[in-house]
Amino acid sequence: MSEDGLEGVVVAETVLSDVDGARGRLVIRGHDVEELAGRIGYEAAVALLWGRRGDDADALAAQLGGARERAFAAYDRWKPALAARNGMDALRGALALMETAEDPAERDPTIVGATAVVASAWARVTRGEEPLAPSGGRSHAADYLHMVTGREPSDVAVRALDRYLVTVVDHGMNASTFAARVVASTGSDTTSAVVAAIGALKGPLHGGAPGPVLDMLDAIGEARNARAWLGAELAAGRRIMGMGHRVYRVRDPRAAVLEEGVHELARAGLGADRLALALGVEREAEALLAERDAARARTRSGRVERRLHANVELYTAVLLEAVGLPRALLSPTFAVSRVAGWCAHVAEQRAKGRLIRPSSRYVGPAVDEGSTESRSDGVASA
Ligand code: COA
Repeated sequence: MSEDGLEGVVVAETVLSDVDGARGRLVIRGHDVEELAGRIGYEAAVALLWGRRGDDADALAAQLGGARERAFAAYDRWKPALAARNGMDALRGALALMETAEDPAERDPTIVGATAVVASAWARVTRGEEPLAPSGGRSHAADYLHMVTGREPSDVAVRALDRYLVTVVDHGMNASTFAARVVASTGSDTTSAVVAAIGALKGPLHGGAPGPVLDMLDAIGEARNARAWLGAELAAGRRIMGMGHRVYRVRDPRAAVLEEGVHELARAGLGADRLALALGVEREAEALLAERDAARARTRSGRVERRLHANVELYTAVLLEAVGLPRALLSPTFAVSRVAGWCAHVAEQRAKGRLIRPSSRYVGPAVDEGSTESRSDGVASA
């Protein structure tokens, strides 16, 4: 346990998900992520997370469809937020402008539906296109793909996107979820909590990595260049995007689940070259990081060095690119899924949590009890 970055500090009890970093296991409401991803759709995963009955996925699908249509009907209200250059800023701004219901059974689906509509509208507007209306009868994944691309999505692409949305729907006490819970703990509203979470997710150490992962793959170009390129990055003191994790000491289980999805896409002719490159980059990055850490362990006595492996973002980037999403939309697409997790945590925090109000240790200057003239900061004591 360390207070630096709150590593290992337990801040809440939750029934929603559990991250076992030592064994590389993610459990969502009693199910391993491998049991869910690729097997159920996003609606069923959200129904599970929200503690709805097993047969409730269809009802939730209808609710989400209705929510997407209502969000689009209110386009004029949140359109100004789409001028933002970053998709996460657009999401933050647009959701803040939306009306939300008081009743949680209505409110949470409304926010989840709206997030997909805003993200896709932003992607189109930044390309100089008109936003496309949702179709409430489609699945969330299929409608999102359609709203972004304007094309009828293939079954294989929808399946892959569903796999992604299910995989990242919740993940323990990550930074954005914690941000949402802190806001909820003050008695504030769900939209405020979700907006705070979007701000946290935007950062490259959390959900902002998939775009930079694709930039990295572009820069490397071919697997045979990986070692030299990655070595130069590490020598320059930069981090390798898509590698490392605060909690996992082994490969992130979501990386395996998403890699499987990318293989499925590659067999259907989508993204096969990128997959080969990503696999080569992962292999080299893992080897180089292990060599570096072994060298450090020899020089830094007493310090236990950790092994760095691929995290969720490496294959997220490859999968979302292969299904046809633009690079700038990768982090907003993370929010399109995770927003359901945030809503669940907000509800849980509200039901049984206390105000989150930690302490800090003051290490600033001591109060100068002496003369008024000698203070270096120029502020006169009273
Ligand atoms: N590449 C190179 N070095 C890395 C690294 C990476 N991807 N991830 C961690 N390290 C190194 C750090 O530089 C640090 O070394 P130092 O002690 O010399 O500074 C050491 O490993 C421990 O790092 P620390 O900052 O304590 O890890 P963390 O738990 O705070 O960070 C991440 C976790 C995810 C933020 C970190 O691994 C990272 O920045 N990864 C790249 C960004 C990314 O993929 N983000 C998506 C996360 S899902």
